[in-house]
Amino acid sequence: MTVRLTINGAERRVESPPDTPLLYVLRDEVGLNGAKYGCGLGQCGACTVQLDGRPVFSCLLPVGALEGRQVRTVEGLGTAASPSILQRAFEEEQAAQCGYCIAGMIMRAQALLDRVPDPDEAAIRAHMQANLCRCGTHMRILRAVRRAATAMRSTVSRGTAP
Ligand code: FES
Ligand code: FES
Repeated sequence: MTVRLTINGAERRVESPPDTPLLYVLRDEVGLNGAKYGCGLGQCGACTVQLDGRPVFSCLLPVGALEGRQVRTVEGLGTAASPSILQRAFEEEQAAQCGYCIAGMIMRAQALLDRVPDPDEAAIRAHMQANLCRCGTHMRILRAVRRAATAMRSTVSRGTAP
């Protein structure tokens, strides 16, 4: 089956069987390996990407249901040489230990910051709750999200937002 969808701003045609999880399509057909396979059951968040701006578990989404939808992965935010504000905040807070959960954490957090530029602590915690870090760096991850929110606000107030 051919499915047309937009991935990180570029239109793509993918040819996987319709019940193939989006995660497998991204990793095996499109070559985007940021999102990870953790549980395959919607319980860990390692596979989180954005679908039309909302964080989703890509391990649960059959690609056949995604015709015309917009997918954004961690590769669409920035690169190692030119990280996004949020990616830089994760680095600065040393939020990664093994790193396996981090792409999913970043994509979930970015969805919040795109919608709510000034989230309070309770909003950040509630939003991030669906994603687990087996290394236990949750406090650093929360600090990174707060740091990024502060940096984004000051970028906007200086009129230098991307
Ligand atoms: S791999 Fe998708 S939620 Fe765990
Ligand atoms: S840094 Fe290892 S699972 Fe989160």
